[in-house]
Amino acid sequence: MKRIAILTSGGDAPGMNAAIRAVARKAIFEGMEVYGINYGYAGLVAGDIRRIDTPDVGDIIQRGGTVLYSARYPEFSTEEGQLKGIEQLNKFGIEGLVVIGGDGSYHGALALTKRGFPAIGIPGTIDNDIPGTDFTIGFDTAINTVLESIDRIRDTATSHVRTFIIEVMGRNAGDIALWAGVAGGADDIVIPEHNFDMAQVAKRVRDGRDRGKKHCLIILAEGVMNGHEFAEQLKEHGDFHARVSVLGHVVRGGSPTARDRVLASKFGSYAVDLLKEGRGGLCIGILNNQVVASDIVETLESKKHQPDVSLYNLNHQISY
Ligand code: F6P
Repeated sequence: MKRIAILTSGGDAPGMNAAIRAVARKAIFEGMEVYGINYGYAGLVAGDIRRIDTPDVGDIIQRGGTVLYSARYPEFSTEEGQLKGIEQLNKFGIEGLVVIGGDGSYHGALALTKRGFPAIGIPGTIDNDIPGTDFTIGFDTAINTVLESIDRIRDTATSHVRTFIIEVMGRNAGDIALWAGVAGGADDIVIPEHNFDMAQVAKRVRDGRDRGKKHCLIILAEGVMNGHEFAEQLKEHGDFHARVSVLGHVVRGGSPTARDRVLASKFGSYAVDLLKEGRGGLCIGILNNQVVASDIVETLESKKHQPDVSLYNLNHQISY
């Protein structure tokens, strides 16, 4: 394979730029030509495609967001969108595509693969909700950003002896809430993958108060419900004057951590190795600390992401 392209799609994630850099630099190192597609699948269909050279990916490893821009583009699920995308790739003489993104982006790569165009998926999303990998690019940065906010909120919560509900992103997955909650010593963590009982949450808050605890922090994954709704329901079990803090998109920005940059560099480089061998239809991941590639069709159709729910039990035992 002599000419490949890269796109980023779906919600941006810190470390996407490091992955773009790694794909481009490794491919150029291997004597290939690289093209960047702007605005994900929307740009692919529109033919918003440009040549990328070594200097174009300089000074980006430390930057959040994506220099290729991103978009959500449900139209790519249609036959018309997919055929148009392949037509554009053929027009530019592109023989392989690296897609960096989350769930929706992988489905686009899967569609291209089924139509015979070699695509490789690299998991890039703060949510960590992609099957075939233990970690996605952006997750480590996101949990560290949430952690910094938890630590800050704890200062003010303690000063006023208050309860806080901190709502975090994650779509339908509880990974961000779980990891940041354990790291931040949260009094309770509420995630979609584990049942919760509001009466028990209220009891935890009350017990803490009775023991003289000055703050109470509840980390809520957005996939359960929104923070204000949660506060209303909690009120039915006692008035704790809870404050709600929605961290939202703040968690998607910022400079990637060293861990995310290294992960992105490994994934990007490996994607080029695979395309160089003419292999497509794969998604890359890290499983038990090993970078691996698995069949994208099989991964998306038969595997489901599971967060490390043992963290939930751990938190119940050590944070109260
Ligand atoms: O997938 C990343 C994510 O940030 C989710 O955590 C969140 O639910 C969603 O994207 C928000 O999407 P948008 O930025 O399109 O509102």
